[in-house]
Amino acid sequence: MKIAPSILSADFADLATGVAAVEAAGADRLHIDVMDGHFVPNLTFGPDTVRALRPRTSLPLEVHLMADDPDRWIAGFADAGTDIFLVHQEATAHLYGTLQTIAAHHVQAGVVLNPGTPLNTLDEVLPLVDQVLIMTVNPGFGGQHFLPAMTAKVAALAKIRTARGLNFAIEVDGGINDQTIGDVTAAGADIAVAGSYIFNGDPAQRLAKLEGRA
Ligand code: DX5
Ligand code: ZN
Repeated sequence: MKIAPSILSADFADLATGVAAVEAAGADRLHIDVMDGHFVPNLTFGPDTVRALRPRTSLPLEVHLMADDPDRWIAGFADAGTDIFLVHQEATAHLYGTLQTIAAHHVQAGVVLNPGTPLNTLDEVLPLVDQVLIMTVNPGFGGQHFLPAMTAKVAALAKIRTARGLNFAIEVDGGINDQTIGDVTAAGADIAVAGSYIFNGDPAQRLAKLEGRA
């Protein structure tokens, strides 16, 4: 299991220190939660945050865009140094085109599903994506409880991936800790986002626990 620490739970006044800590502890990528105050009821980062972090770490930078009208943000985040750009299915009427545009900017493209959105809404776009992110909480805030019903959704997606001979990565986001990671791993997730679990403790020790090293 790869671990993507979410800086949503890091100290915003000292992001570079939080990033350095998880990089030194063996994180696989950095998860950056971008919220626009419309799609979700919270406001966080923009492209300039990515631009500022880019020279401070060699980890891949993954942007989880929780914003309406994702197309207007693609060029800016690509230019800022985003490696993986994840857009919500629910945020665009033109998902296929949005994913094509992301790829045209030479950024890896991923799609995100809210807990209430069925997998079959992705039938047509699965061949276009490098990654599918299954939300395991309702998006907007860190520190929420994992929704156990999402484990079956992850397993169903892994089955579809095998049946269709595709190789996108499956990621989970929300409520991941040492108690919940086992089930999603068994269900077929490849990458787990973790925010509060990692940053509300010793990041190195928490990462080791999530990776089964401690
Ligand atoms: C929630 C965000 C998550 C958040 C997860 O909308 O997408 O990435 O940081 O936080 P935890 O791990 O605390 O649930
Ligand atoms: Zn996220």
